[in-house]
Parts: sequence; C-alpha cells; structure tokens
Amino acid sequence: ILLMAARKSFTDSDTADEAVRATCDDATICKRFATSKGYWKDPYIQYFTRSVGERKAPEINRGYYARVQGVNHLLDAFIRKAECDCQVINFGAGLDTTFWRLKDENLLPRKFFEVDFPTVVARKIHNIKTKPPLSKPIIETHSTDSLLLDAHSLDSDRYCIIGADLRDISNLDEKLKKFQLNSELPTLLLSECVLVYMTPSQSSNLVHWAAETFHTAMFINYEQKERFLKTGWEHADALDMMTIYSMLPQDDVARIERLEFLDEKELLQQLLQHYSICWATKDKLNLGNAQICF
Ligand SMILES: C[S@@+](CC[C@H](N)C(=O)[O-])C[C@H]1O[C@@H](n2cnc3c(N)ncnc32)[C@H](O)[C@@H]1O
Repeated sequence: ILLMAARKSFTDSDTADEAVRATCDDATICKRFATSKGYWKDPYIQYFTRSVGERKAPEINRGYYARVQGVNHLLDAFIRKAECDCQVINFGAGLDTTFWRLKDENLLPRKFFEVDFPTVVARKIHNIKTKPPLSKPIIETHSTDSLLLDAHSLDSDRYCIIGADLRDISNLDEKLKKFQLNSELPTLLLSECVLVYMTPSQSSNLVHWAAETFHTAMFINYEQKERFLKTGWEHADALDMMTIYSMLPQDDVARIERLEFLDEKELLQQLLQHYSICWATKDKLNLGNAQICF
C-alpha cells in the first residue's frame, strides 16, 4: 500500500510539473501571436513555435505587450547602469529570446544565464542547434573552441543554459558556479511568471539565496513584492500592470492601440490590474540601482 501511495504521489507531482513545463509553450505562442500583429518586434520567436497559432483577444495581446515592455525597460536600465559589466540570470526562462535581442541591441551582459527544467532546456537547445539564426549569434560571441553544446546544457562565453529544478537550491547553486557565475559582478535576476508555480517557501528560498549570493543586484519578478522585503533585499517596488501600461512611452501605446479594435476597455483594465511587476535591489557598488523605475 505504501509503495502504491508513493507511486501515486510521484505520478501526481510529475504530472503537475509536466503541466508547469507546458506553460512555456503558452507564453511563447501568445508572444508570437502578438508579434505577428505588430505589438513589438521579435525576429527570433518564430524559431521556437511552429505557427502563429489561433487568434488571441486584444486584451491578451495588450497584456503581453505591457509585460514584455515593462520587464525590458527595467532589464535594459540595469544593464546600462552597469555598462554591460554585469550578468543576467533568467529563472524559468522557457523559450525566451532576450539573449538575441540584447545581442542585436549591443546590450549583452558579460554572461547571460538561463535556468529551466532539463526537458524544457533540451527542447530549447535542439532548436538552437538546428536553426542557424539562433546558433550564429552564440558562435559569433564565443572566442575559443571550448563551446559546450550537449543535449542538456549550453555553455559559451556569453550565453549559458542550464537544466535544473529551481526548488533545489544547492543543486542550482552548484550548477551556476560550475558555469562560472561570478557573485562579485552586478547581477540582474529575472523571473517572469515562474515563482507562482512554486510554494511560497520554495520561492522565498530562491529569492533569499539571490539576496545572500550577490551584493549588487536587482531581481525583477512578474508578481508580488512582499517576499523580497522579507528575504534580505534592501529595496523593493511594485506597480500593477495597468499603471505600467500608462507609464510606457505613450506614442508607442497609441500605435499598438490602433492595431486592433478593443471594445471593452474595462476588461483590459481589470485584467491588467490583476498582475504586477515587482523589482528589488541591493547596491553595495552604488550603481544607483534603487533609482531604476518607470
Ligand atoms: C509561464 S512559463 C514562463 C516562461 C518565460 N519566463 C516567459 O515569460 O516567456 C514558466 C516557466 O517556468 C519554468 N519553471 C517553473 N517552475 C520551475 C522549476 N521549479 N524549475 C525550473 N523551471 C521552472 C517552466 O518550465 C516554464 O518554462
């Protein structure tokens, strides 16, 4: 009976994790649809999902627009303050394409790390290996012949993708160090729709690990602020997505609002007020991270 119970609980948690892993496809499909409509440009996302997919409601497209622009605004501000002499760790990166955008915009940090479950990472690496527009920029930014590209990890001078479970902090720490994470460098940590899939104590452990590991850092999280103040960050701010939407460059907002007709403004408002971006900072090197805002 015990064995059956253990097997059942293993199967349940495995199925739950499988559902979590599948969320990276939802995010990519929605982002691809929005970019196909012209909300923002992402020439790389097409390599991670086969087709544009079904039409999404304008509220969803505007919500993704606000999320992507909001996160990019904070991320780019941090990299600029550090004059690219920094590193980025994207937790639960899924099929995200930020590495390629930063390379095209001459904003690459010293090293860009991504972490996700090994099966998600294996899929991402397979796409990179088989699609030259994805692999070329990685090869171009690599100087020696020691590029590691196997089924479960990629490690080049500027880009590293690691398969790991974010709930297992000691394994995560070990893997990041193995791939030359430097705790002395200003570090931007990002989790976009990821912590919500863990228990509060698991996500607090991750956020606390980050606060303990880096002395000059910013953590951008597409969710709540309270857990940062409780886990050793010096400063934390949060804005709901409706406020962020109203603070984005309004000429671009006016442009995307002309892309699709939106009947029910209240629905968009309700949807965006439901989500937030939170960012927390530590600043021993006095880069001015705490002043980064919208
Ligand atoms: C909703 S997707 C978001 C993907 C990406 N951040 C984005 O916004 O496009 C959530 C991602 O977090 C990853 N994830 C969730 N829990 C994780 C864990 N415990 N360890 C590693 N990755 C995890 C999932 O596999 C998935 O790729």
